[in-house]
Amino acid sequence: MTATTSTNGAQAPASNRFLIWGGEGWVAGHLKALLEGQGKEVYTTTIRMENREAVLAELERVKPTHVLNAAGCTGRPNVDWCEDNREATMRSNVVGTLNLTDCCLVKGVHCTVFATGCIYQYDETHPWDGPGYLETDAANFAGSFYSMTKAHVEEVMKHYNNCLILRLRMPVSDDLHPRNFVTKIAKYERVVDIPNSNTILTDLLPASILLAEHGEVGIYNFTNPGAISHNEVLTLFRDIVRPSFTWKNFTLDEQAKVIKAGRSNCKLDTTKLTTKLKEYGYEVPEIHEAYQKCFERMKAAGVQ
Ligand SMILES: NC(=O)c1ccc[n+]([C@@H]2O[C@H](COP(=O)([O-])OP(=O)(O)OC[C@H]3O[C@@H](n4cnc5c(N)ncnc54)[C@H](OP(=O)(O)O)[C@@H]3O)[C@@H](O)[C@H]2O)c1
Repeated sequence: MTATTSTNGAQAPASNRFLIWGGEGWVAGHLKALLEGQGKEVYTTTIRMENREAVLAELERVKPTHVLNAAGCTGRPNVDWCEDNREATMRSNVVGTLNLTDCCLVKGVHCTVFATGCIYQYDETHPWDGPGYLETDAANFAGSFYSMTKAHVEEVMKHYNNCLILRLRMPVSDDLHPRNFVTKIAKYERVVDIPNSNTILTDLLPASILLAEHGEVGIYNFTNPGAISHNEVLTLFRDIVRPSFTWKNFTLDEQAKVIKAGRSNCKLDTTKLTTKLKEYGYEVPEIHEAYQKCFERMKAAGVQ
């Protein structure tokens, strides 16, 4: 079901009706397939989030109970683009994201925002083998304009009581889509080797629907528990999916010479998420176990 069909009747729907924003995006596509697989009523839209009249009209037309906001300016081919296109980045990631949340409030709609955890970097109090960042910790990574817009908007958006903010990091799908974190690092000439929190979509997207359906609000670090290094990921990838795969490492200093925007490296604390999900009988596997299963699904599907 898509947003191309208009809905009839002015009454609020008896059951949940999902409207996915950023309907042509990568995460949006996974959400749509998931909801359709669950037999739920789902629509998508590509209306620009910053266009208040059009957003309000779309909410009025579709009458969703839940908006899943998977829209955002991510830059092409990567976030380096945002460094040189600051107004466009702000229009989407700050003005648009906030506007959509506000319009949902006005219309009494729950709004789930697929946000990012790339707003932190390791420091003296949060080394890679120390505690992960909590939802309440202030952002400390301003190395990229993209991350800065995301951190700024979260800071105000968290006060909306209709808004659930899910912080994804380095999302991974069960295929080798170009936006999959594994596809990206497998194609780089050289990769750094630093532990990070990652989001395995097969594990986390069903959890996003659960949280939204239960009307949860506030910020959640939205990754698998634990952290995994690039070399650990690529070793599992080689061992399970592509035996001929080889790669080369370089240092953060060497990486800095070939990228325009800095890249966040951090571990997020997932205690709040896993505790909440336990209430609904849902468990998220630790990241090493999750990658193992993800690559086994890839192999079973014939991905090489
Ligand atoms: N993929 C990652 O590595 C990653 C990691 C953490 C968080 N996230 C966040 O998760 C969300 C989804 O990511 P994704 O990987 O699915 O990105 P994506 O494939 O680039 O999809 C984003 C979609 O949002 C649309 N969009 C951009 N600005 C918009 C606006 N102002 N109004 C309406 N639609 C707009 C884009 O359409 P156009 O192309 O037409 O502009 C695109 O279809 C983003 O907010 C992203 O920041 C992604």
